[in-house]
Amino acid sequence: MAFLIAFAGKGGTGKTTLAGLTIRYLIETRGKPVLAVDADANNCLNEVLGVNVHATVGKLREDSLQIIRNGAERPGGMSMEQLFDYEIQQSLIESKGFDLLVMGRPEGPGCYCAANNIIRKYTDKLSEAYPYVVIDNEAGMEHLSRRTTHRVNLLIIVSDPSVRGIQTAQRIDSLVNELDLNMENRVLLINRISGSEVMELQGLAESLGLQIAGTVPQDELLLHLGLKGDSVFHLPADAKALRSVYSILDTLSIR
Ligand SMILES: Nc1ncnc2c1ncn2[C@@H]1O[C@H](COP(=O)(O)OP(=O)(O)OP(=O)(O)O)[C@@H](O)[C@H]1O
Ligand SMILES: [Mg+2]
Repeated sequence: MAFLIAFAGKGGTGKTTLAGLTIRYLIETRGKPVLAVDADANNCLNEVLGVNVHATVGKLREDSLQIIRNGAERPGGMSMEQLFDYEIQQSLIESKGFDLLVMGRPEGPGCYCAANNIIRKYTDKLSEAYPYVVIDNEAGMEHLSRRTTHRVNLLIIVSDPSVRGIQTAQRIDSLVNELDLNMENRVLLINRISGSEVMELQGLAESLGLQIAGTVPQDELLLHLGLKGDSVFHLPADAKALRSVYSILDTLSIR
């Protein structure tokens, strides 16, 4: 069964970038296939991973509904479920060391929930076939109540060096408790540290009962990568943000 790592946190704190670096870390240190799941409707994990998206779960669902509405013939007399299973397999974006599943932006009322249920079902289903699954979530806490995932081994809550970022992290942490979500381990990572602010924020985080896994420095190389829309695989191995993410991940008992 896969080891599931999910990212959460306030908007723009670096969730997608750190999810990308985590995927690179797993490929380099474990050498086993990773399933990357982009559960953010404004998908951009693909950019960070340097691949193009040709299909999303949201779009597949719309197409399937269209087939039902039109009463169109399904290939080989497949059931709707079989057809969908087949299409999900086809929609996986395959790359070196990882495959990517993208939720995309579903249209129409109530569809978010449906697309979420599908993403959850297929993350569960596909996680049987991958040793590692990394899920990039959208900003905020909505995805927790929508339960994008059933089971998470490690939730990495990302904050920027701001009081608001830490407070959002704390709200996420509390919501996980309130909803009694199945999350084995939860840690806080403070990203984009540039100076002495870290001491103060660490104090605040600890007073709110958050376990800090580590801090990641502001890194101009990463900033430029983001500006150019380039992939984390192009980041030099000695980039300081990469080094600190790798050493934090080394401590997190990823099985
Ligand atoms: N340690 C860092 N040093 C410099 N720039 C960084 C660092 N981490 C992230 N960034 C930059 O910050 C920007 C936002 O990062 P990212 O898209 O990963 O955040 P996010 O939390 O996923 O945002 P959203 O909430 O919109 O999904 C990007 O341009 C990225 O390159
Ligand atoms: Mg993001």
